[in-house]
Amino acid sequence: MPLPRRYTLTQYLIEQRRRFPGASGDFNALLLDVALACKAIARSVAFGELGGVLGHPSADVATAVNVQGEQQKKLDVVSNEYFTQMTEWGGHLAGMASEEMDAPYQIAAPHQRGKYLLVFDPLDGSSNIDVNVTVGSIFSILRAPQEVIDSGRDVVEADFLQPGTRQLAAGYALYGPTTMLVLSVGNGVAGFTLDPNLGQFMLTHPDIQVPPDTQEFAINASNARFWEAPVKRYVDECLAGQTGPRGKDFNMRWIASMVAEAHRILMRGGVFMYPRDSKDPAKPGRLRLLYEANPIGFLMEQAGARVSTGREPLLGVAPTALHQRIGLIFGSRHEVERIERYHAEPSRTEEPVHPLFGERGLFRAEALS
Ligand code: AHG
Ligand code: MN
Ligand code: MN
Repeated sequence: MPLPRRYTLTQYLIEQRRRFPGASGDFNALLLDVALACKAIARSVAFGELGGVLGHPSADVATAVNVQGEQQKKLDVVSNEYFTQMTEWGGHLAGMASEEMDAPYQIAAPHQRGKYLLVFDPLDGSSNIDVNVTVGSIFSILRAPQEVIDSGRDVVEADFLQPGTRQLAAGYALYGPTTMLVLSVGNGVAGFTLDPNLGQFMLTHPDIQVPPDTQEFAINASNARFWEAPVKRYVDECLAGQTGPRGKDFNMRWIASMVAEAHRILMRGGVFMYPRDSKDPAKPGRLRLLYEANPIGFLMEQAGARVSTGREPLLGVAPTALHQRIGLIFGSRHEVERIERYHAEPSRTEEPVHPLFGERGLFRAEALS
């Protein structure tokens, strides 16, 4: 029987480059460096406690010293270093920004500076590491402003404040039962599975499409009392199931790794919400715009799904700060459109339809006291 013909990530990228006959190859080289960082992180994650990089409730592992007298680091710091070290030497980057670094990262001599900006969350869902649940890395590639490319000057925060529509590529790696890389270079979404024998990402999921309808939603329901009315209404209607206004039953999921929820939605549909809420007035949402929401949003749109803040399309939002947070809703198109409609309608004051969240419900303050 002939062996199945599978593309490697490198072969896929070369195929994609045919769309841009004049392209230098820098872009593909950068993506392969990012993939290498993800492979290195996958190995660190796989070693778990044996690698000495897990957090520990009774000690700050980030400042602990191991038996060889070396500093032990938490896995998200280690992952951040893999990203910077594997990508800074290639000459393709003007600078980087990450969840783990307050300020932009400068490409310093002897490395050359290039024309792209790399923005990333080195380990998303890292609170799940200690309980051995799927985590991942999220990344986004932007073009540096022309004046930065021409002058070769240090990058500053403002250089990164570009709306999500300007992303050239975005993706994530998932460290689950298998390691996967899911990527868009602006021409659909492709999923690759790491072949542990070859150490290569192989194309296993070409042209991922999110179905427009779903019966599955994901939200952290412990925040229910802080939600805005449109989100409350949507969730209440889902919970009411077959006998409610939606006329069908829904399933709920919450992994607390946004990257893993995004993957589930890319594979079989669904809707994810970490909406703007009133929990902390200083934080208009939980997730960060530039390195969490925008790259996942880019992938979703490329897969035919929809991404919104509830009030406006997410990818059009003009960022104002590197670590800015935002309300995020994405997934199966018809559901996200419905949630947007609820935001656009004048607020309704009637009683929610589901007894768990209703006036006489279990989650009523008096009922809990
Ligand atoms: P990170 O580990 O990069 O800080 O991000 C974790 C995020 C996201 O992955 C997840 O959806 C969310 O935090 C979970 O938040 P709750 O703990 O409020 O459920
Ligand atoms: Mn994160
Ligand atoms: Mn993180």
